[in-house]
Amino acid sequence: MRNFVVALRFFVLLFGLNLLAISAPFAEESEMDMDLMQTIEDTNDSLTSNVSLEDADAATADAQTLNELFAVVVEHYQKELAAGNDVAEAVKLSEKSKKISGDIISQVKAGDFESAAHSATELSRTCKTCHNFYKED
Ligand code: HEC
Repeated sequence: MRNFVVALRFFVLLFGLNLLAISAPFAEESEMDMDLMQTIEDTNDSLTSNVSLEDADAATADAQTLNELFAVVVEHYQKELAAGNDVAEAVKLSEKSKKISGDIISQVKAGDFESAAHSATELSRTCKTCHNFYKED
């Protein structure tokens, strides 16, 4: 009986690991589409308002978060491109978004909120450009 339970546990463990391995690629996919983009949206809204309030600390934190999130987006699309998908424009636009969020960090650090506001506008425009390209409406 004890051996049977051990064998059963082993089977359940193996089965569970298999399920994990199978679902992982899909999990990654939906993470990119939904949760990640939603976080990007919230952070971008926060950044825009913090730049206009000239709150350097909060604006820097938001720009830093966006910079890291867009690094994930860049990586995602580079992988898709390598897999032969037609996403060259998405790679370019996500790299551009990552660069702009980096620019905002420097501009806020220099106290140049006017340039930071221009960059934030350009960043929002880049979101729309990418969505127009790839959104399935
Ligand atoms: C490189 C391309 C790209 C860039 C840049 C980009 N997005 Fe997206 N975004 C997408 C794609 C692709 C989807 C999924 C579209 C779909 O499935 O309809 C999406 C979806 C979204 C969604 C909907 C998420 C949901 O829950 O359905 C929001 C909100 C969003 N993006 C906000 C933003 C904001 C804000 C920015 C800029 C700061 C941005 N995105 C930049 C490609 C991009």
